[in-house]
Amino acid sequence: MFPDMRARLKCAAMLVYGRYRALRREKVRFRGAFASFDEAVAHVRSGMLAGYDHDSVGSVSRELMQQVPLWDYPILYWLRRLAPEIARVVDAGGHIGVKYRGFGPYLELDRLDWIVYDLPALVKAGRAQARPQDRTLSFVERLEDAPAADVLLASGLLPYLKEPLVELVRRMRAPPRHILLNKVVTRDGPTVVTLENFGVAEVPYQIRNVGDVPAALETLGYDIIDSWTIEQLAHRIQTHPELGRATYRGYVARLRP
Ligand SMILES: C[S@@+](CC[C@H](N)C(=O)[O-])C[C@H]1O[C@@H](n2cnc3c(N)ncnc32)[C@H](O)[C@@H]1O
Repeated sequence: MFPDMRARLKCAAMLVYGRYRALRREKVRFRGAFASFDEAVAHVRSGMLAGYDHDSVGSVSRELMQQVPLWDYPILYWLRRLAPEIARVVDAGGHIGVKYRGFGPYLELDRLDWIVYDLPALVKAGRAQARPQDRTLSFVERLEDAPAADVLLASGLLPYLKEPLVELVRRMRAPPRHILLNKVVTRDGPTVVTLENFGVAEVPYQIRNVGDVPAALETLGYDIIDSWTIEQLAHRIQTHPELGRATYRGYVARLRP
């Protein structure tokens, strides 16, 4: 059989199997493939919460997120390397301060002002769960309320962020000298939004075209000085496996002088 024909047959078989799983309403982590966040939200199953901004969603995977898995090490490396020149980090999508807690043993957090920007339910939970040792951790619900920072960290935010990255960065008081992005989910084809199953909620989850983030950083005037992929997290949308594997990526970008 010609290789081209074999690839097409494989794609058709995956499509049929994916839709069969969707029809059976199997419990899968990712279901559906939509053109936009709004379209994804319109397909949230009845009885499920939609999106992240709910008290009960904040506790999903909280303990897991406070760990430091292998794929956080490039971020730790850069935070340590930049330490002499940074005094303040804005951690967008920082949850209840999970990375502040996880990175505590590896960074001198007492000399870093660490501001988490997140959705209101998470900010409320973060403030309520703050520990005595979280001396340099604070929270804002509006990015505009964070003072100018040396670093914007967005770890795991971009799949859940409806707003374009360019607009997010432009809402900051001043452009940070460094932008550190981790767990950016990408694919070779057009951007798609799927729904992630959080048990209590279905959350729109964006798999971006691989050129999206480099183009946004270029528009903002940043050079990418490091990047990586996270093979361990690659996955397919179970109901749409023919769309291919999603690749997780990280980037470090520096503002051009
Ligand atoms: C998967 S968690 C990432 C937590 C942590 N930064 C990490 O790397 O494990 C995604 C976070 O993004 C937040 N988020 C989603 N949409 C957001 C938005 N529009 N603005 C700010 N944070 C948002 C969620 O509330 C959640 O805390």
